[in-house]
Amino acid sequence: MQTLPSPGESITCSGPHYDRAKEAKEFDETKAGVKGLIDSGMAKVPRLFIHPPQNLRDLSSDTEGSATDLKVPIIDMMGCQDSRLRRDVVDDLRRASETWGFFQIINHGIPVDVMDGVLEAVKQFHEQPEGVKGEWYSRDDARKFRYYSNGDLFLSKAATWKDTLLFDFPFGEPDREAVPLLFREPVFEYEKHVEKLKRSLSELLSEALGLDSGYLGDIECMDSKRIVSRYYPTCPQPELTLGTINHSDATYLTLLLQNHHGGLQVRHQDQWVDVSPVPGAILANIGDLMQLVSNDKFKSVEHRVLARKAGPRVSVACFLVPGETQMSKPYGPIKELLDEDNPPMYRETTFTEYFGFYLSSGNGLNGESVLPHFRVSEPK
Ligand code: OGA
Ligand code: NI
Repeated sequence: MQTLPSPGESITCSGPHYDRAKEAKEFDETKAGVKGLIDSGMAKVPRLFIHPPQNLRDLSSDTEGSATDLKVPIIDMMGCQDSRLRRDVVDDLRRASETWGFFQIINHGIPVDVMDGVLEAVKQFHEQPEGVKGEWYSRDDARKFRYYSNGDLFLSKAATWKDTLLFDFPFGEPDREAVPLLFREPVFEYEKHVEKLKRSLSELLSEALGLDSGYLGDIECMDSKRIVSRYYPTCPQPELTLGTINHSDATYLTLLLQNHHGGLQVRHQDQWVDVSPVPGAILANIGDLMQLVSNDKFKSVEHRVLARKAGPRVSVACFLVPGETQMSKPYGPIKELLDEDNPPMYRETTFTEYFGFYLSSGNGLNGESVLPHFRVSEPK
């Protein structure tokens, strides 16, 4: 459940007569999302979505993209069961996780038609008549499936240009009845393949940390999946708003499927770098909690999604976090990675504590990472 901000907080962007909370409530009550605004012929971005200048810095124009040749590393998992090839994959993964915190994976084993099926189902859901999709619109956290626009609509300073679908898969069998018919086949099929990929990556990342391949699996830090899909409608004034504000993820690992419309950018060497869609690839990024348990070896990196005239962009993120029974289990820097020269950089925390802090205090709202609050030693 979301709480409304106090009246003082509701006057944010511009002018004393602007009642942000009221506009947010009215928008929420349409149950039609940002797509509904576009469908109604809205040619200007409403004030609710206009971001302050500090969020809009370095927005590249709709056509130019970022002014750099830097590219997120591509990791080819082909043959990673062969011991010699596996060593190369592990080395590539280590380098990518240490430097970029992001990598595009090819030959990951998820069939292209399964990926296309889930992207198409998400698109179809949002493109249904408003009355039909509105039935699923909800801000109730207890629901295993729900449709909403911005999760932080009543907390953020400015809303973002997207609509959202959430599928919660706690440890164990997902509940097929909880999701609309349209998704049963494609999402559950995708989930099955993602589970396999997660297991392989869990082993490869354990090895990349210099640990036994079963290490990350044994500590049960990625037993739950939250699949969150975003639909980013075309935007008439992309220079005024964002699809997703800069943030890092409160996960161990995130696996992201994106359609051919770009818009995602990652922060690397003090620049925003476009993540160009690679056909058939799955994008993976290290989350804050992986940075914490790896004691800063792997990096959780800031990223954002631009609003654009082209689109709609569709993405399907799979957030890997501890299972329901591990929500209160303390996780800290992995002991095997510590010695006299490598003291723990963070205190222990639970997923519940970390995520609660993340939601309430900042990341995704103002783009500031919450990881430093858990730091006990300064980086060298
Ligand atoms: C996220 C995210 C990117 C996208 O949901 O954390 O970064 O392309 N999504 O939707
Ligand atoms: Ni993210």
